[in-house]
Amino acid sequence: MATQTKQTAKGNNAVDMDNSEFHKFFLDELKDIYWAEKHLAKSLPKMQKGATSPKLAKAIEKHTKETEEHIERLEQIFEHLGEKAVGKKCEAMVGLVDEAKGVLEDTEKNSMVRDAGLILAAQKVEHYEIATYGTLVVFAKQMGHKKVADLLSKTLENEKQTDLDLTKIAEGHINEEAARE
Ligand SMILES: [Fe+2]
Repeated sequence: MATQTKQTAKGNNAVDMDNSEFHKFFLDELKDIYWAEKHLAKSLPKMQKGATSPKLAKAIEKHTKETEEHIERLEQIFEHLGEKAVGKKCEAMVGLVDEAKGVLEDTEKNSMVRDAGLILAAQKVEHYEIATYGTLVVFAKQMGHKKVADLLSKTLENEKQTDLDLTKIAEGHINEEAARE
């Protein structure tokens, strides 16, 4: 607890906050989600290939590109904060991705049950990311890093939209067809 600033963190004093324990914790969490996004970007093509419906495969392909943008945005954030962009292994994302891989192992190829399972796994990922980015936006604002908060908000909105899109696909036809298999 060495370098807490004397000023209370009312928001607008990013410089004074930079050595605080809170700022260090914030940086650590940025490294965590940076690693998580990279791990996800590597894993999504496998899910895309395994998907039964072209609609789901397309949605996963789209989110792979968006995930690359999330990674770039985090790199901009590190740069803005004067920090090196380094990842820190995120065990949660390892687990979530393993679950998605498990869906591919546990379901039959070309089945809609597989797609229903992939959507469930993907939405678990989205909810993890929404929770993370939602909190990081609040942290950034609290520390007066407005630009960083704006960048994180962009990704947050994108994750929320992806979650909604996945629900739409599931409710559109996949769940119904899975129930008939
Ligand atoms: Fe993301």
